[in-house]
Amino acid sequence: MATIAFLLNGTLQRCDVSPDTSVLTLLREHLAQTGTKEGCASGDCGACTVAIGESTTGTQTFSSANACITPAHQLQGRHLITVEGLAKEKYLHPAQQTMIECHGSQCGFCTPGIVMSLFTLHDDIHQRPAPLLPELPQELSQKLSQELSQVRLEATLGGNLCRCTGYRPIRDAALRMNDVPYERPQWFDATLPAEEGGLPLIESGDSAVFFAQPESLAALTQLRHRAPEARFVAGGTDLWLESTQRLAPLDQLIDISRVSELLIIEDTTFENQSGWWIGAGVTYSRLDPLFKKHLPAFSHLLHRLGSQQIRNRGTLGGNIANASPIGDTPPVLLVLGAQVELANTKGRRYLPLENFFLDYKKTALAADEVISRIFIPQPAEDQQLRVWKLSKRREDDISAILGAFSYRLEKNIMRDVHIAFGGMAATPKRALNSEAAIEGQPLSPDSFRAAQEALVGDFQPMGDVRGSQNYRQQAAANLLERLYLTLSAPDQEVMLHAYAH
Ligand code: FES
Ligand code: FES
Repeated sequence: MATIAFLLNGTLQRCDVSPDTSVLTLLREHLAQTGTKEGCASGDCGACTVAIGESTTGTQTFSSANACITPAHQLQGRHLITVEGLAKEKYLHPAQQTMIECHGSQCGFCTPGIVMSLFTLHDDIHQRPAPLLPELPQELSQKLSQELSQVRLEATLGGNLCRCTGYRPIRDAALRMNDVPYERPQWFDATLPAEEGGLPLIESGDSAVFFAQPESLAALTQLRHRAPEARFVAGGTDLWLESTQRLAPLDQLIDISRVSELLIIEDTTFENQSGWWIGAGVTYSRLDPLFKKHLPAFSHLLHRLGSQQIRNRGTLGGNIANASPIGDTPPVLLVLGAQVELANTKGRRYLPLENFFLDYKKTALAADEVISRIFIPQPAEDQQLRVWKLSKRREDDISAILGAFSYRLEKNIMRDVHIAFGGMAATPKRALNSEAAIEGQPLSPDSFRAAQEALVGDFQPMGDVRGSQNYRQQAAANLLERLYLTLSAPDQEVMLHAYAH
């Protein structure tokens, strides 16, 4: 047990929690705050959505999170907002008011989560309104900024499931929020007393049960050295399912989410290549603007990878360390030629990502090492990146397979071809035979047919609940077909937009 101090809707709380206590358990079972509901307990439905506030540059920003898979210890020094805290005296928050007016609620279980997601959107819009574009006539500029807001709305609500009311009334409620007068609750700018906030929770590494919160890479590697069996937690988006779904104990946890070196995005060069060092603890939400600008296909994938709540918490380092054969980002990182930096108490070493994955859930990470950073080379100007994820549901689903393709098309000749798949082998893996069949060849049905045939030598996929062996083999070949059609007839729609990404 350790004591954490945080604000709950503006009120200071001090609570004793064990390492595997989730924010949802803390709220419902320790603090009797039952407005936050449990639906799936696995980060899928959004019923448990809360907002976590952080003061960064003087202003407090609130991000949505799934309370069911967020470790309570990570609240230390933070501000937790729940549905109980939104109304100001007798005035409901605009998200609550418009959900009532638009009949957006029936069962009530999903409603608090939807309201909390709308609260973060409302807060975001008020703090960072969609920009008007001065170079355009005002009417067009307004139209575009409204469309931008619609995109934000969909991104905000993508992680909240409602099966009875339907989404239209909820969407109506969201679109009307700005018509309701809003006054910020008194707690809005509340901060923890200095003696309570900011203190990391570092407990004795000798204890059999602990939650350690290092703030530097040196402290992290020392902890790793002392406790090689301890589990790392950042967003907890996968790890925490071991607790909620498999009821496995999580007794020794090292939280990497406050290690300063792991939170940096650096624009730099490495081994004579321009690119970016991404700290292993950088969340998808923080990565998105960089990817939007330089790697739009990767940015698009982040929106297929998980909901806003998951993007706010999940990290690139976590997705790699997890070493799942169906992790979404590794195939893309493989075709981009990413490298990983591994650190221990003695120093750092560097490894191409393709040498990191050894076998099913086995990696080259030594027992005393941590993934500290990931280097992504900046693509050449004419380098193209395509990423296609196939899953049963478009939003918030795990891949059946994912294909990533990087190449240059130079005078109709395919150059620098890199192809990788997730879901086709025990690890995310390059399709070396298939690449060789296209490399240096003209863009033609014959070369792509050869690449499709070569896939048999690259992969012998397994069948599981997400796709049979045959499905996976056929789907991978079809993605190559899609690449050929996309390149040979760039103006034609290859598939319905909804399924084409
Ligand atoms: Fe479903 Fe948390 S209870 S996401
Ligand atoms: Fe709860 Fe729709 S209001 S499922």
